[in-house]
Amino acid sequence: MDNTFEPKNIIVTGGCGFIGSNFVRWVAENHPETHITVLDKLTYAGNPKNIAGLPDAQVELVVGDICDGELLDRIVPGHDAIVHYAAESHNDNSILDPEPFVQTNVMGTYRLLQAVRKFDVRYHHVSTDEVYGDLALGEPRRFEPGDPYRSSSPYSSTKASSDLLVRAWERTYGLRATISNCSNNYGPYQHVEKFIPRQVTNILCGIRPKLYGTGENVRDWIHTEDHSRAVWDILTKGTIGETYLIGANGERSNIDVLREILSLMGQPQDAFDWVRDRPGHDRRYAIDPTKLEEELGWRPLHKDFSEGLAQTIEWYRTHESWWRPAKEATEAKYAAQGQ
Ligand code: NAD
Ligand code: DAU
Repeated sequence: MDNTFEPKNIIVTGGCGFIGSNFVRWVAENHPETHITVLDKLTYAGNPKNIAGLPDAQVELVVGDICDGELLDRIVPGHDAIVHYAAESHNDNSILDPEPFVQTNVMGTYRLLQAVRKFDVRYHHVSTDEVYGDLALGEPRRFEPGDPYRSSSPYSSTKASSDLLVRAWERTYGLRATISNCSNNYGPYQHVEKFIPRQVTNILCGIRPKLYGTGENVRDWIHTEDHSRAVWDILTKGTIGETYLIGANGERSNIDVLREILSLMGQPQDAFDWVRDRPGHDRRYAIDPTKLEEELGWRPLHKDFSEGLAQTIEWYRTHESWWRPAKEATEAKYAAQGQ
């Protein structure tokens, strides 16, 4: 049976953030038949410049909070799907102040699910591999869709909670919902608080990069464009009620990524500082993307991490006016916590 879904009018929550805006730009370019309403609160992480220049007739920005049920009642009718990216997304922030994470990630998802129920629209929930906790360094195992939830940080626990709400609403109320759990994204428009942009912009500012703990922690890097393509495939071809894991076989230790940045930017290999480790720091994430590949035929296009990293460095080098306004305050916050 052909269960292809052809969305004509979607809401993208968090569409002014890093991954959400890359998705909006990708859909605008590749699916001009689809209208996009971006719903974004424009927190410190949201920037309307991320979607500037897209056609007004195709992309509309509504500034608002996903926790605002009345707003959802006004804007959801007339749309055929919601793709939910909006979140408080940074682990270090969640350790300092978990409350906005509980509010946006849990309550916000709850409000969206109630609106999805009320107006019977399709729903795709964007989540993280961190819901599965971490893996030991060096073990061959990778995360699989049926793995138990073992989240360890306040951030990942709120994301795990939101995933469980989606599963419950799908089973109990028959919502037409899918979930994806993706590994670490890199690419343009990522906030300077995150690992790769922080180190790149530090070097551009003459500040030494900062490595947490031993630097041995492993992340599984995927270019954000490949994440966007996967989310579109799941939205349009995925099976209702299913969870898909998104990853591009990009496992690397933090110290290896940092050394690659240093070398691409012409810096000595030891030109960085070791800093205080993140409390509860997850050791290793790794995704087994077999289900996504076999069921939906998705494959990553950005297979060469070094090339993608070089392009990302170049993007930050040529977009200083984009990242500069957030840099000083971000570094001051890190310095206050010894990082
Ligand atoms: P981000 O922090 O860059 O962007 C979050 C966006 O959500 C911002 O535009 C912000 O203004 C908006 N937002 C926050 N609270 C809101 C609210 N209450 N109402 C409306 N809008 C609100 O985040 P990101 O890194 O782009 O992550 C996007 C999504 O992808 C998140 O759900 C995250 O858990 C998930 N994810 C991220 C990664 C990663 O590597 N960054 C990997 C897997 C999954
Ligand atoms: O795995 C998916 C997750 O990836 C997403 O759900 C999160 O939203 C996203 O922020 C990301 O989480 P991480 O905690 O893995 O990303 P972050 O960029 O904060 O850190 C990546 C690694 O680098 C992590 O092991 C901590 C380390 N680190 C980070 C910073 C900011 C450093 O060593 N130095 C730093 O300065």
